[in-house]
Amino acid sequence: MCQRIVAIIGCGAIGSILANAIDKKRTGNSDLRFLFDMNFERAKDLADKLDGPTKVAKELNEILEDKSVDLVIEAASQEAVIQDSADVLRSGKDLMVMSVGAFSDSDLLKEVRKVAEEAGKSIYLPSGALVGLDGVKAANIEKIDEITLVTRKPPEVLSTTKYVQEQNIDLSNLDRPQTIFESSAKNAVKAFPESVNVAASLSLAGVGFEKTKVKIIADPSLTSNVHEVNVKGEVGELSTKAKNVPSPDNPKTSYLAALSAIMTLRSLTEVISVGT
Ligand SMILES: NC(=O)c1ccc[n+]([C@@H]2O[C@H](COP(=O)([O-])OP(=O)(O)OC[C@H]3O[C@@H](n4cnc5c(N)ncnc54)[C@H](O)[C@@H]3O)[C@@H](O)[C@H]2O)c1
Repeated sequence: MCQRIVAIIGCGAIGSILANAIDKKRTGNSDLRFLFDMNFERAKDLADKLDGPTKVAKELNEILEDKSVDLVIEAASQEAVIQDSADVLRSGKDLMVMSVGAFSDSDLLKEVRKVAEEAGKSIYLPSGALVGLDGVKAANIEKIDEITLVTRKPPEVLSTTKYVQEQNIDLSNLDRPQTIFESSAKNAVKAFPESVNVAASLSLAGVGFEKTKVKIIADPSLTSNVHEVNVKGEVGELSTKAKNVPSPDNPKTSYLAALSAIMTLRSLTEVISVGT
């Protein structure tokens, strides 16, 4: 079994779930060497609750200079991806990114890919809150005619978004689902930064930001978010639906997203890899 020595950037909802999972040996043969958060106390509080001897970095450089760390997991923010990705890869470490939405900036993606190639390092993007990316990737080897992300959210969640407020869309008395946005993923990531990670993951797994469609529906019958992926192409038709529960520490983050980071890490240490 391959061993991974890990550092986590970001000790919020996902970072904490992941750190606890590593500490409890739920991520295969991995060790947590460092925690880092722009809020030092948050990283320290998390480290204090773990059994293992995890160091708390005051600066990212402490992690970059430690030759034993071979995987850095970003669970922080798009800003962290923008600021730190290239440095992590250049320091000779693989990188796992949770704030996948940062890669809706094609220039950033191009630059980070180039640095990874030059450094001979890998970038892992877990499926996050979406299910079905395995099928999308395989289907995309042949022609995909149409691919749509349908996101359904409770009206009260959507009513706080910038798009709904700017467009003066009244969602206060809905008695049935109402489509409030239908366009490309490229437009969706600008209009709905709240949906940026799922739209970006699906676009990157499949046909890109311009050809991937996004539909956003306000649904008064829901209490949590639902993401559907619908694909039509040469392989036939694929449909998946994830009705996610929020993670305990951050209602904006699906619990499944944190678990997908755990599973991605575990699969990096296993000798048999199941699934595409
Ligand atoms: N891929 C997916 O499907 C998916 C799903 C949910 C969340 N996410 C993304 O994952 C990231 C983490 O989510 P979360 O729910 O754990 O967030 P959170 O707000 O609970 O925690 C984020 C932590 O990162 C720290 N942080 C932010 N920017 C930083 C930086 N530049 N350097 C160091 N620390 C920094 C914050 O202080 C905070 O403690 C978010 O960007 C979120 O959008 C992705």
